[in-house]
Amino acid sequence: MSDDGSPSLVSARYGEGYRSRHGARSESWHVFVAGSGVAARLASAIPTTVLELGLGTARNLGASAAVAFAFDTPLRYVAFEHDLLGADEWASLERDALGPHAFRSALLEARRSWDTTPGTRHTLCVGPVTLEIHLADARAATWPRGVDAVYLDGFSPTVNPELWTDEVLGRVASHLAPGGTVASYCVQGRVRRALESAGLRVEKRPGPPGGKREVLWARRPSERTTVAGPPLDPARSLAGTRIAIVGAGVAGRSLAWAATRAGATVAVFDASDGHAGASGVPAALVNPYRGRAGRASDDDLHGAERTWAWAAHLTGAGLDPGAHPTGVVRGADGSRQARTWSARPGALPFGPEPTPAPGRWRAPHGGMLVRRGGWIDTSRWLVALRCATAAHGGLDRPATPVTGLAPVAGGGWHLQVDSATAGPSVDTYDLVTLCLGASPPGALPHLPVTAVAGTVALVAGHLPARPLAGAVYAAPVGSPARHGLDPLRPWFAVGGGHGDSLEDAEGAAGLLATLARSLPAAPTAADEWTVSATWRGVRARGPDPQPQVERLAPGVWWFGAFAGRGFLRAALEAERLVERWARGAA
Ligand SMILES: Cc1cc2nc3c(=O)[nH]c(=O)nc-3n(C[C@H](O)[C@H](O)[C@H](O)COP(=O)(O)OP(=O)(O)OC[C@H]3O[C@@H](n4cnc5c(N)ncnc54)[C@H](O)[C@@H]3O)c2cc1C
Ligand SMILES: C[S@@+](CC[C@H](N)C(=O)[O-])C[C@H]1O[C@@H](n2cnc3c(N)ncnc32)[C@H](O)[C@@H]1O
Repeated sequence: MSDDGSPSLVSARYGEGYRSRHGARSESWHVFVAGSGVAARLASAIPTTVLELGLGTARNLGASAAVAFAFDTPLRYVAFEHDLLGADEWASLERDALGPHAFRSALLEARRSWDTTPGTRHTLCVGPVTLEIHLADARAATWPRGVDAVYLDGFSPTVNPELWTDEVLGRVASHLAPGGTVASYCVQGRVRRALESAGLRVEKRPGPPGGKREVLWARRPSERTTVAGPPLDPARSLAGTRIAIVGAGVAGRSLAWAATRAGATVAVFDASDGHAGASGVPAALVNPYRGRAGRASDDDLHGAERTWAWAAHLTGAGLDPGAHPTGVVRGADGSRQARTWSARPGALPFGPEPTPAPGRWRAPHGGMLVRRGGWIDTSRWLVALRCATAAHGGLDRPATPVTGLAPVAGGGWHLQVDSATAGPSVDTYDLVTLCLGASPPGALPHLPVTAVAGTVALVAGHLPARPLAGAVYAAPVGSPARHGLDPLRPWFAVGGGHGDSLEDAEGAAGLLATLARSLPAAPTAADEWTVSATWRGVRARGPDPQPQVERLAPGVWWFGAFAGRGFLRAALEAERLVERWARGAA
């Protein structure tokens, strides 16, 4: 069992562990899948070819397949292995080590029937993944060209020198596509120099917290250079500060990215494996003009501006953050409301009809187009933040419920985690931030929040070009596969219907009826709408409408209560909090 609670195996032939004893799962994700940029590519729907030297326990394969499945992006994975492990050995790892269920079961079943004669090659196609395994000494085999990433993952050069020769490393470099990357846990000077002299740009990057201090990243130059986010303010750096963030919703993810950009070493813990909290909402509006008065506070306007600035930044770094600054349409309930709204700066008044509302929404009294508004494909946004954080050395600890905090003599905090799933944690942090959303109070310190439940209906069909805000909101669903929907059909989400509990939240039929009243009378698509799924979630609201950002104890912070505007405000509030820490407020 490694330190992050994930099991690994030891090779009888080489006398070395297949993965780091400091965290098998986190090494796989941090060094290879995120570190190489493969996760970011797949999350951005860019088909990707990976070459792996040393398939071993297939952990890197499983973690890569998980991202390909989540985003339905083609992944070609070519691996060499001259000492193939058996299906039972692979199956002895934790359940999701081999990727999503469909992939794991197909892989294990195929493995049971494979001929393991040296020189044999096996192919397996499952969902978006095409796997080619060559049972051969990597040195003797033919390699694919134009590879997007090489996972250089032999055993250490001491026991497995043949995978680290100048010749093999030169071959790695020459089989990369322009812009292709190499990832490895090994940072030996000789290995770095060999890759450099083969024309690659080579860097030592921070390793997984609790694991190796530095890991290797190399890249074949291309005309298109990746823009990494500049630090927020180099003069106020958080370099050397270790921060634990508990909760991987939009609050925690935003804070993690802002903090790593300021130089902090960050680990993000979440009880679940996916987007379990309110941030799992299938589509989110970014709409600063809210309420019946259609007013925008300065913070909401600033929040929208920072959200779109982050989107540009993430896009510049080669990620697809799923951000659509399309503007948002609001139809007025009466002419008085329309007149009030027409005075709002940053909003474009329109109507009343027959002047058409933008995007053919029905607006008999007119309304406004919120120019600074738009919508976000929430899962792309969260994965882009996760990848950008990992690229700055952040570590992810999914499926790790935090059960308590213990002060450390001399300063800092230990996190207590549920050892049944994650193993004991020995890490110490200078700062811990609780981003727990509407999770009920447990052993962790907690501020008072009210839980507000809401419903989102997922409907097959097209929407007018711009999303709608009003009694209900409507926006496209950017990642239908994440919600079990057919990715080849168009989908939109209708949200609203808030209640005190999940049972009280309005049902899909009511939401659709309200939406239908907002659409043009003819032609209407309403007859063709079918609700295929309903998502329900609970968000946290503080005693006032503002987000709660508070120090609970020295080094322990609360960051939450974003109510219905997490995607509007989290970027701004995260930057503000990091600025406060950098000024010494920890
Ligand atoms: C129906 C509905 C529609 C919405 N529409 C919009 C919209 O259009 N635009 C918009 O901006 N916002 C919208 N929101 C609001 C938005 O979703 C929230 O403001 C935001 O998601 C809150 O993010 P968070 O990170 O604070 O909380 P969450 O996303 O709830 O994240 C909290 C995380 O903490 C984790 N956690 C809890 N306890 C522990 C523990 N002990 N250890 C480890 N992890 C733990 C949970 O697993 C969870 O992942 C909507 C919300 C709902 C419910
Ligand atoms: C550190 S392990 C790889 C771990 C693996 N990537 C994972 O995710 O679990 C190294 C692997 O490289 C294999 N290997 C070592 N030398 C090799 C060679 N010359 N050709 C092919 N495979 C080799 C070993 O058998 C072993 O499975």
